[in-house]
Amino acid sequence: MVVFNGHYLGVSLSGYAPFRYDVTDYVNYGTRNVLVVRADATLNEGWFYEGAGIYRHVWLTKTSILHVADCGTFVRSQARPGGATVVITTEMDNDSGAAMACQVVSTIVDAKGKEIATARSLAATVPAGERRAVEQRVAVTNPALWSVDAPNLYRLQTAVEAGGRTMDRYETTFGIRSIRFDADRGFFLNGQPLKVKGTCNHQDHGGVGAAMPDRLQTFRLEKLKEMGSNGVRCSHNPPTPELLDACDRMGMLAIDETRMMASTAEGFDQLERLIRRDRNHPSVFLWCLGNEELEQTTERGARIVNSMRRFAKRLDPTRPITVAQNREFGKGVSLAVDVQGCNYREEQIDGFHKNFPKQPMIGTETGSIVSTRGAYETDKEKGYVAAFDATVYRWPGAAQDWWKIYAERPFLAGAFAWTGFDYRGEPTPYGWPCISSHFGLLDVCGFPKDNFYYHQAWWSGKPVLYVLPHWNWPGKEGQEMEIWVHCNLERVELFLNGQSQGAQNATANTRLVWKVKYAPGTIEARGFKSGAQVLAYRRETTGAAARVVLQPDRGRIDANGEDVSMVTVEIQDGQGRVVPVADNEVVFQISGPGKLIGVCNGNPSSHEPDRAERRRAFQGLCMAIVQAERQAGEIRLEASSAGLAGASVVIACQGGRLRGAG
Ligand code: GAL
Repeated sequence: MVVFNGHYLGVSLSGYAPFRYDVTDYVNYGTRNVLVVRADATLNEGWFYEGAGIYRHVWLTKTSILHVADCGTFVRSQARPGGATVVITTEMDNDSGAAMACQVVSTIVDAKGKEIATARSLAATVPAGERRAVEQRVAVTNPALWSVDAPNLYRLQTAVEAGGRTMDRYETTFGIRSIRFDADRGFFLNGQPLKVKGTCNHQDHGGVGAAMPDRLQTFRLEKLKEMGSNGVRCSHNPPTPELLDACDRMGMLAIDETRMMASTAEGFDQLERLIRRDRNHPSVFLWCLGNEELEQTTERGARIVNSMRRFAKRLDPTRPITVAQNREFGKGVSLAVDVQGCNYREEQIDGFHKNFPKQPMIGTETGSIVSTRGAYETDKEKGYVAAFDATVYRWPGAAQDWWKIYAERPFLAGAFAWTGFDYRGEPTPYGWPCISSHFGLLDVCGFPKDNFYYHQAWWSGKPVLYVLPHWNWPGKEGQEMEIWVHCNLERVELFLNGQSQGAQNATANTRLVWKVKYAPGTIEARGFKSGAQVLAYRRETTGAAARVVLQPDRGRIDANGEDVSMVTVEIQDGQGRVVPVADNEVVFQISGPGKLIGVCNGNPSSHEPDRAERRRAFQGLCMAIVQAERQAGEIRLEASSAGLAGASVVIACQGGRLRGAG
């Protein structure tokens, strides 16, 4: 609920859908203004941890009396060989008491800042207190298309001119690309088939919860891209727009989702706000109108989605819509969507494709494989699930079970694993005192789990070789252990302390398994292609924890009060090897123009506070998040741990750009 200078402005029922109020009439000009926001966190929208309070940016926007409307530009492009037509719709609001004549000047600027096309509209009149739209068509020759490998972007600079002056300027980032779903051949980006290798994600991260600094969006996408992923699903709600900005910049496709599957005024309103805000993002390739909703298999569900679909098409005729369905594909909402969204239920896929041969399909949610980072024995008491993904919970599937199904069927556009990152809530298969999920391919801090490497092997296209588990098993000498290898080369040979344990041929999308008798020392895999060794991966039995090592993901950050450096904390032995079972407590001290805004370790049962100067390591690692202040200088982060050699690191904080300033 928003109250401004004592006046009630309105209520937003969703903590995710963007909203804004016009405060013009209520402003105390030239003096103090009081904005009160009451966020009621006692009501939930989801079944997962949602955060509480204000976790989106809040902007005060000052405009001219004649200005581009809120989210008032819509840029569409039709790419053809050698050129594209960019269709620009600009809506203008006239907040004055008299009609105003104006012209819109649209200039397209490329990534280097070069103006490549400009168009001046015919004169338009916007009546007093009303909104009018003008449409322009601009030709671009040889456009640099947006794709997941080359995320080329353009900027549209809009100027609204009236009475010989520029009344307003507005900027829109967009990309030129084409998308298409085919019922037999899957998804096409710019005319080329592309298998979507995605993950679903909630909005929170270790150390900060839902209060995510923008840089963390980039950090998270970097990790997912490293895994070979090319898509994210914003499950199950409108994301923060900075996530979509990062997807645009970095080349990640995004399913953008409303939280409310409803054809009521409220449902339409939330959907409208989402689509108007996000329809210029080249990354967004599907609107998702619901997830496993109660009405998903009913006729009523189909009616609701049909109405929403018609509504969505008026706002954006360029993108298809889907609904994530986890029961009875072919019934209910299936009959109203452009693309069948499949949550799990892989056994229904072929039947649906046969009965609905004209309907494209995508795996909106798959996997839900549970594992705890670096844990190789399931421990109910501690709330850990062994990372060997055969230890499945309730529903079927190891990573390779579901991915093989998607990989082998060209008609499937791709799929989104549940989830990229662990998140708070849903500690399946446990309950309290376990508090965060086990579904992630990375933990809440962004440290990869073993399953990350399965996906990297079969998604990334680069040579991958990875071995699990770690090799610190005192007391298990002579006992038989399973060794898993994720490798996309042709052949792998395994060695224990230099002795061959046999070689195996790699098979697409499949892990390799050996059984060996444990002996401390070195377990090593060597990967071969065309007879030559390409990669080796070794795990060594480490010595005792000896020192703390700090590794910031970036040693220079912007002095803008927002930027962060993600500092990985390793507990190493005397020879510089991470001790994979270490849980030493690390104490931090920070000086200079920076703050420690959060700590985390990926332990799903840790109740240590995230806002603290200390954290235990979990399986040898923890993370400290350092945020810049608005002052240049050197931030020094020191870490100490009882009985271990400490560490310190310097992060340069440099004059950065303030967002939204000016
Ligand atoms: C799905 C649901 C997700 C999450 C997941 C856990 O059915 O859509 O939000 O709860 O199950 O496996």
